[in-house]
Amino acid sequence: MPKLRADKISVFFLGLVPLFWLSWRAFEGRLTANPIEFITHYTGDWTLRLVIIGLFITPLRKILKLPNLIRFRRMIGLFAFFYGCLHFLTWIWLDKFFDPGEMWADIVKRRYITVGMAGFLMLIPLAITSTKGWIRRLGGKRWQLLHRLVYFIAIAGVIHYWWLVKSDIRLPALYGLFVATLLAWRIRQWMRASTPSTLQKAPQAVAR
Ligand code: HEM
Repeated sequence: MPKLRADKISVFFLGLVPLFWLSWRAFEGRLTANPIEFITHYTGDWTLRLVIIGLFITPLRKILKLPNLIRFRRMIGLFAFFYGCLHFLTWIWLDKFFDPGEMWADIVKRRYITVGMAGFLMLIPLAITSTKGWIRRLGGKRWQLLHRLVYFIAIAGVIHYWWLVKSDIRLPALYGLFVATLLAWRIRQWMRASTPSTLQKAPQAVAR
């Protein structure tokens, strides 16, 4: 059995903090006058935050020269999916009472729900294929290509949030800025990796 290190266990408990905090507030009856809205917003916020935190891992490990950060990426991604499921569950259960007609009407009528749903549906294959077995089955290249969906999920999350706010767009704009910066960094890395000069330098880099 693989050894679970203390740092991974700490990240696991950190990921549960938002859930504990929400449960504590519920226990104390402090979910505001509109608990459904509060839970929907809270779980939506954490889904988007965790998607973005997961996207920060690769740049941070390169910039800070901390390659081991990669060990936490899968767990962060799975926590994003977990809070996404809670967010989705709040909507279908507490908001729509499992009524497929109501749900469908919302999906086609409200564009922010349409894009949110697209984001959630894209999270599912990433969660399923997050295991080592799936990396082996798909092959590294195909797996990486599939997992680039995470950028579309982040963009969908930002658009979803932007479209649902009534007037104050500061927070969705801030999340949007993070996602745009991360995407720009990534595009720069891909372009660098495919330029002939970098390709020529590659064997040296491996030798070092
Ligand atoms: C399953 C599909 C989804 C549905 C049905 C859904 C539905 C909702 C609803 C009804 C709200 C509250 C709107 C309001 O009260 O005006 C909301 C808020 C939010 N959702 Fe979603 N959502 C979905 C997926 C997602 C995903 C995938 C993300 C993130 C990647 C996300 C992030 C957010 C955020 C950040 C908020 C706003 C939180 C705030 O105001 O503090 N949602 N969503």
